[in-house]
Amino acid sequence: MTDTSSVCRRLVGRTAVVTGAGSGIGLATVRRLSAEGAHVVCADVDEGSGKAAAAEAGGIFVRTDVTDADQVNALFKAAFDTYGSVDIAFNNAGISPPDDDSILDTGLEAWKRVQEVNLTSVYLCCKAAIPYMRAQGRGSIINTASFVARMGAATSQISYTASKGGVLAMSRELGVQFARDGIRVNALCPGPVNTPLLQELFAKDPERAARRLVHIPVGRFAEPTEIAAAVAFLASDDSSFVNATDFLVDGGIAGAYVTPV
Ligand SMILES: NC(=O)c1ccc[n+]([C@@H]2O[C@H](COP(=O)([O-])OP(=O)(O)OC[C@H]3O[C@@H](n4cnc5c(N)ncnc54)[C@H](O)[C@@H]3O)[C@@H](O)[C@H]2O)c1
Repeated sequence: MTDTSSVCRRLVGRTAVVTGAGSGIGLATVRRLSAEGAHVVCADVDEGSGKAAAAEAGGIFVRTDVTDADQVNALFKAAFDTYGSVDIAFNNAGISPPDDDSILDTGLEAWKRVQEVNLTSVYLCCKAAIPYMRAQGRGSIINTASFVARMGAATSQISYTASKGGVLAMSRELGVQFARDGIRVNALCPGPVNTPLLQELFAKDPERAARRLVHIPVGRFAEPTEIAAAVAFLASDDSSFVNATDFLVDGGIAGAYVTPV
């Protein structure tokens, strides 16, 4: 687990936009990027938590629904107008609603909503960020996908999984297309993370937790700070030759056949 009091300062003077900044992985990343010296622009549809994240990081909050093109464009413009550059885009906001389930039970409206928030939003954020980064000749985009973009789950959330597969393919293509403009684009693929939602779900149903934990070689879920540490690496020049990847931070799930007892 990462103690941000002892992190290095790789991002001094860089400007980072973080979507879904108010909670979970986004919030942990706001803290980490700020501890590394970045100016952090916090975007969230939830005003209370987004503002609190920005206040903690000494950055700014821009209320943004990431499915809305005008709001996304205004977000990246606010970052540039306030700090003079857009160096890092962590396109992370996403949802996983209960009405997205097996393909047999998931209606078209539920399907579309998840595609909009998880996939269309990443298209909009990349489309808005890239022109600033091209003009600077430098930038790092990190799009949150998931390990389910790489592996199938019998406990299906069909639109979620398909949306994350889309994020992965789009990130790869953008990383290739814009590499010679100095822009790197990576898809981050976290394994299951110990968030309040997950804790609540599994506290109610320990068997459900056990069914998942058995597949994780390290035998536990990730902490949000561990995902944030990977984002900071991908955002920094330490990852200067890491591009167009599906960057797994999954405790070994995707590599496992038999796990330790
Ligand atoms: N938690 C996990 O186990 C896990 C695993 C793999 C991938 N992910 C992905 O990581 C990302 C963050 O997940 P988390 O667990 O931190 O979630 P979270 O629910 O804790 O936080 C998501 C944030 O996004 C915001 N948000 C939702 N819809 C939005 C919209 N339309 N516009 C702007 N903001 C919006 C929410 O208000 C919230 O603050 C998501 O893309 C998720 O799919 C999570």
